[in-house]
Amino acid sequence: MTEVVKSVSEWRKIRKNLSENDIGFVPTMGALHQGHISLLQRCKNDNRVTVASVFVNSTQFNDPEDFKKYPRDFERDLKMLRQAGVDYVFHPDHEEIYADEYRYMVSEKEFSTKLCGAYRPGHFDGVLTVVMKLFNIIRPARAYFGEKDYQQLILIRDMVSNFFMNIDIVGSSIIRESDGLAMSSRNQLLSAEERKKAPVFYKTLNSGKSVSEIINELEKSDFKVDYIEEHFGRIFGAVFLGKTRLIDNAPRN
Ligand code: PAJ
Repeated sequence: MTEVVKSVSEWRKIRKNLSENDIGFVPTMGALHQGHISLLQRCKNDNRVTVASVFVNSTQFNDPEDFKKYPRDFERDLKMLRQAGVDYVFHPDHEEIYADEYRYMVSEKEFSTKLCGAYRPGHFDGVLTVVMKLFNIIRPARAYFGEKDYQQLILIRDMVSNFFMNIDIVGSSIIRESDGLAMSSRNQLLSAEERKKAPVFYKTLNSGKSVSEIINELEKSDFKVDYIEEHFGRIFGAVFLGKTRLIDNAPRN
């Protein structure tokens, strides 16, 4: 049975009866797809109790328009979470999480300013702050994050290590559509024509070409490139297709 929990106090009552090593946690912003489901399946395999959160975190949106149009359909999400066999869904409102109106935040000063951070000021402060709050509320033994958001995964793993938090951060590989496009909640926002073009991003990123060649090819196909960069033997990219921002990364062979 899947139980929806809206408040911290409600969760704390439930949490009291669970033991330290029981809980696996998958934080999400909803608009769920197979990428999220793969994390939940992994979590269910590893843990006696699986908790998911659905919370569209306003503080990580540097662009208010992006926050406004972010897809939200909790009833549909809940159906998928039930089907996946999730035990608890934490679904708080903004006031429950940000009673301090975001006076306190967790901030990283170096890697969070690179890649997506260079184009989305404040984004990773918002991510790290909400993940810290969610970890302190849920108190999981393990938490699951996708390699789709590789920079986020590294920053969270590093935060947990540097704040001596006793949580295992498990990274999971990118789930793609059959044409190669990385699954993303924002894919819903693409027009039919943009959706047809979108896999060019994945294909070009994986072409083995130089960074400048990749940028040229993407620009020729009407993508607006935020960045294409190589780090840790991987290639990372962020592009706009129309008004929708897509990110992806792949090992560099
Ligand atoms: P959201 O974009 O909903 O993603 C939730 C989790 O699903 C993240 O760990 C993300 O990396 C993973 N994910 C998304 N698409 C994926 C795909 N195609 N394959 C594998 N994993 C995928 O990331 C966030 O939410 C937020 O920043 C959050 C961590 C919840 C903090 O608000």
